[in-house]
Amino acid sequence: MRGYFAIGAERISKPGNVGALLRTAHAFGASFFFAIDPHPDLYETKCVDTSDAGAHIPTYVYDSVAQMALPRDCALVGVELTDDAVELPSFRHPTRAAYVLGAERDSLSPELIERCHHVVKIPTQFCVNVGVAGAIVMYDRMISLGRFAERPVRPGGPLEMRSEHVHGRSVIRAGERRRRRRGGLLGTETDQAPA
Ligand SMILES: C[S@@+](CC[C@H](N)C(=O)[O-])C[C@H]1O[C@@H](n2cnc3c(N)ncnc32)[C@H](O)[C@@H]1O
Repeated sequence: MRGYFAIGAERISKPGNVGALLRTAHAFGASFFFAIDPHPDLYETKCVDTSDAGAHIPTYVYDSVAQMALPRDCALVGVELTDDAVELPSFRHPTRAAYVLGAERDSLSPELIERCHHVVKIPTQFCVNVGVAGAIVMYDRMISLGRFAERPVRPGGPLEMRSEHVHGRSVIRAGERRRRRRGGLLGTETDQAPA
């Protein structure tokens, strides 16, 4: 799968939820985990996180939203059940994304929502557990960006295997094309490199 993703939480307070998020993030291949103003000691998560994900995923802790720093070009995606949020099944996941969830008895702070490039919601009747919400978002990213065999029309498994990925021919930008032509490497007016 192209790109990367991270999972984070703001003011999360239960070690069990941190452990569940960390374990699920590890299983889905998250690149890092982050927490903003967390209440529990992040290392007290072993009872839920038996895979010891905390030892395998870099974890960043910020004291405040203002201190939070993400990699360049990484889109911050808030996960919150608000009227304005985009419904997850209709959301195009950014290639580089950091998903952030709210506290157990609260929601994402207005300050954090302000920093989000997108806010998505899982179309449920009321809020689900924060660890469950994180798992649904990661699963949705995997099924929408990953390459899987087509679902058949009838119930059951796929009828055809996933098609092989075919690389397109490399594209040469205009500047590079001029340089190559001057150097005698390209003879014809084309955007395509020789196969
Ligand atoms: C248990 S909810 C917070 C409680 C909630 N604000 C309430 O009604 O009391 C914790 C976090 O899980 C996430 N969450 C839960 N259900 C969600 C949903 N249906 N859509 C998007 N996010 C959800 C959000 O990040 C939320 O801040």
